[in-house]
Amino acid sequence: MKEQLAKIRAEALAALGGVKDSAALEELRVRYLGKKGELTAVLKQMGKLSAQERPTMGALANEVRAAVESAVDSAAKKLEERALELRLQAETVDVTIPGKAPRLGHRHPMDMALDEIKDIFVGMGFTVLDGPEIELASYNFDKLNAEEGHPSRDWSDTFYFDADSRVMLRSQTSPMQVRAMETMDLPIRIIAPGRVYRKDEVDATHSPMFHQVEGMVIDHGVTMADLKGTLNLLVEQLYGAGTKTRFRPHHFPFTEPSCEMDVQCHKCGGAGCPTCKGEGWIELLGAGMIHPKVLEMSGIDPNEWSGWAFGIGLERTAMRRFKIADLRLIFENDVRFLEQF
Ligand code: DAH
Repeated sequence: MKEQLAKIRAEALAALGGVKDSAALEELRVRYLGKKGELTAVLKQMGKLSAQERPTMGALANEVRAAVESAVDSAAKKLEERALELRLQAETVDVTIPGKAPRLGHRHPMDMALDEIKDIFVGMGFTVLDGPEIELASYNFDKLNAEEGHPSRDWSDTFYFDADSRVMLRSQTSPMQVRAMETMDLPIRIIAPGRVYRKDEVDATHSPMFHQVEGMVIDHGVTMADLKGTLNLLVEQLYGAGTKTRFRPHHFPFTEPSCEMDVQCHKCGGAGCPTCKGEGWIELLGAGMIHPKVLEMSGIDPNEWSGWAFGIGLERTAMRRFKIADLRLIFENDVRFLEQF
């Protein structure tokens, strides 16, 4: 029995010393220390020993058990340490490796141009309004004095939702004038930027969706001189001091008198070139004094109040501001294009 115990001890310690993983360790533990293990089997034979032998063998057996147990413990500890070491190795962060710079997006030139316009008007005390792109024809046309039969109401120009032409994609930001007049207290100073829609084919200067910024002032004693002064300031701030403007008579149903404003061509300075089609001037916006009927329809007394309004095309403004030749580039959103600004 003494030899048996010595053999178990030697074998167990050797096997435990070289154990590779926790499954193998568990297998060894059961094999030597388990209820049906080798050591138990030896201990079961104790009964056969003489009374003298029994205490010495008992002591020896306990010693072997203790040795195997402690070998199991230390093997387990070694495995744990090894596992931790491997994990630490795998999870090492080398702070000296150069980082991967995150790819940042780029602001769209339209957004930049719009922010400039907003800044200029907010600086003059204007409020920025937002409004619906799906609009009632009554706001887009009727309340702006464009009656039934007005050419701009035609189905060939306008995206209607219903057969009786009552709901539409707004074709201009001007309905925001009406919405402001109906909801705001006087005096009013607002701009309202946003998308507008018309049935146009896409080319270098047209798109069925584009952006406008509407502007409106209503106060006591407002005149065309205020309109000109404000728009000249806008143009000088956008395109540089000394940029010249020109006001031409025009017709809009919601203003009287109406005008269009041109800016001197940035390419040729007014001499005439392909960019301005030989004109020396480039059309920028429509404007005018708000028609008394329009004020009246929104419940404002034209004898007490007067106002002016304008509508500027944002694409055109951005194209001039950033020297972009083709409108389509603005909507394609090719990053190589956008990153230039
Ligand atoms: N809504 C006009 C258009 O889309 C632009 C415009 C002209 C707006 C005169 C105005 C204005 O507010 O007074 O062509």
